[in-house]
Amino acid sequence: MPHNPPRYSKTMIVIHWLTVLLILGAWLTSEGGRRMAENPPLLHFSFGLAVLILVLPRLLLRFIGGVPDEAQAGNRLAVAAAKIGHAVLYLFLIALPISGWYAASRLGVPISFFGVQLPAIAERVQGSPGLIADLHENAGTIILYLAGLHAALAVWHQVVLRDGTLQRMSLR
Ligand code: HEM
Ligand code: HEM
Repeated sequence: MPHNPPRYSKTMIVIHWLTVLLILGAWLTSEGGRRMAENPPLLHFSFGLAVLILVLPRLLLRFIGGVPDEAQAGNRLAVAAAKIGHAVLYLFLIALPISGWYAASRLGVPISFFGVQLPAIAERVQGSPGLIADLHENAGTIILYLAGLHAALAVWHQVVLRDGTLQRMSLR
């Protein structure tokens, strides 16, 4: 049974901030859209796949080692909202790279993870890579809005409620 440590473990904290950088990196290298077939942005694939690789140990550590109780433990609605918000972020961290991998497979471009070639997970098609690829393109931007809201809430906890939320996710 996971217990509730007072703060996030060092590994969880490092993975959190590394993931933030990788998402920003993937977003900044995503330029290209439909032109990806001619000129695939291998850095985009590498950053995005690294997000997927990091989410696995992160979830495992979360279940084995536990995470701190949500802030505002007295307010059940706020705790539920925080739990749902974090679950949605995790969902994006898994679905976004997999849908991107699928989109790249449909486009028939080489899928490289920092030089290591990965297999395609879908048949190559001519023309449009399909609905999941469209969802990927939109989700790639939506996650930034969600993360922005999430960051604003974290800062609000820290500055207005003064409950030390940011400290729990900081390496001292
Ligand atoms: C997890 C972080 C990721 C983010 C934030 C992200 C973000 C985006 C965004 C915003 C676009 C739209 C670009 C545009 O319209 O100009 C896009 C497109 C694309 N991404 Fe990602 N992506 C991620 C991961 C991946 C991964 C892991 C792969 C492949 C292994 C991938 C492959 C693609 C492909 C092939 C497209 C073009 C899709 C199409 O033409 O319909 N992405 N991505
Ligand atoms: C792409 C950007 C981001 C993603 C995907 C993301 C994702 C997440 C997730 C999934 C959690 C829940 C961890 C768990 O309980 O297992 C979390 C927690 C946290 N994040 Fe982020 N985050 C991002 C950016 C940020 C930024 C910019 C800040 C700070 C301004 C921040 C501050 C925090 C804090 C303080 C917690 C702990 C919340 C608590 O104690 O309940 N995050 N983040």
